[in-house]
Amino acid sequence: MSKNHQKVVLVGDGAVGSSYAFAMAQQGLAEEFAIVDIIKKRTEGDALDLEDATPFTAPKAIYSADYDTCKDADLVVITAGAPQKPGETRLQLVDKNLKIIKSVVEPIVKSGFNGVFLVAANPVDILTYAVQKLSGFPRNKVVGSGTSLDSARLRVALAKKFDVSPVDVSANIMAEHGDSEFAAFSSATIGGKPLLDLAKEKGVSDEELLKIEDDVRNKAYEIINRKGATYYGVATALTRISRAILRDENAVLPIGAPVDGEYGLKGIYIGTPAVVNASGVAQVLEVPLNERESKAMADSAKTLQEVAENGMA
Ligand code: 2OP
Repeated sequence: MSKNHQKVVLVGDGAVGSSYAFAMAQQGLAEEFAIVDIIKKRTEGDALDLEDATPFTAPKAIYSADYDTCKDADLVVITAGAPQKPGETRLQLVDKNLKIIKSVVEPIVKSGFNGVFLVAANPVDILTYAVQKLSGFPRNKVVGSGTSLDSARLRVALAKKFDVSPVDVSANIMAEHGDSEFAAFSSATIGGKPLLDLAKEKGVSDEELLKIEDDVRNKAYEIINRKGATYYGVATALTRISRAILRDENAVLPIGAPVDGEYGLKGIYIGTPAVVNASGVAQVLEVPLNERESKAMADSAKTLQEVAENGMA
């Protein structure tokens, strides 16, 4: 059961962080919302701006704070880190952002924080793993945004292709949140009907589906080329995961989860559907993969393993 008063701390008040704060205010989630960033003036400005939204949404304390505020938080969301520049891959951010992650995790843990971490800075699978290692928290209490946004992008693309609402498309992007991700078409359904059956009926070819997968994989690059950054999509995905944690929902969501034998993998965080509740990742759901998907999962995991080993060494 979730308690009545819940507190969230956002660490990193950049474009993603402030969009997340706005989405959380809009959805009336968490009675208390603290914002921490090295640019103190920005957190103060954002808190003042966001509190003006509360008379229209739900009463809520929104304020600028330091790390010691994490002490009694239910959820700490980390978006701190350098964003991708046009043409830059997420994995190329690893050195820069590992340093930033180290500098934020230490004071959060020192505060006495004992809630759930939600990590969204890139490369998110590596940084989620780093947060778990650095904090020494149980693996389930560290959640990555993983392929939540990518899966939303896939649902949007499939919804357009099949003329249905994206809300009614059940489909996941899995593995790395990045260039080695893949679409798990073999387990995707629309209204309970297998997507691959529907595709056959409608004359949608395998090539067309693979083009959708490729477009989803490259969508962040397309957005970054046009407006310099992506933030509304990921902010809303983070809000959805936050709701599952704060409301103890047992929601099944594609996230960055710690695998322990599922898909023959161990140790890393990777994008897969999982049950999310107040304890964080309650259970990894190992979905059946066809041959192409199993290979893509293994290849992506190998890439992540290598980057994690080099980066954390
Ligand atoms: C995204 O996929 C850049 O990771 C960010 O939008």
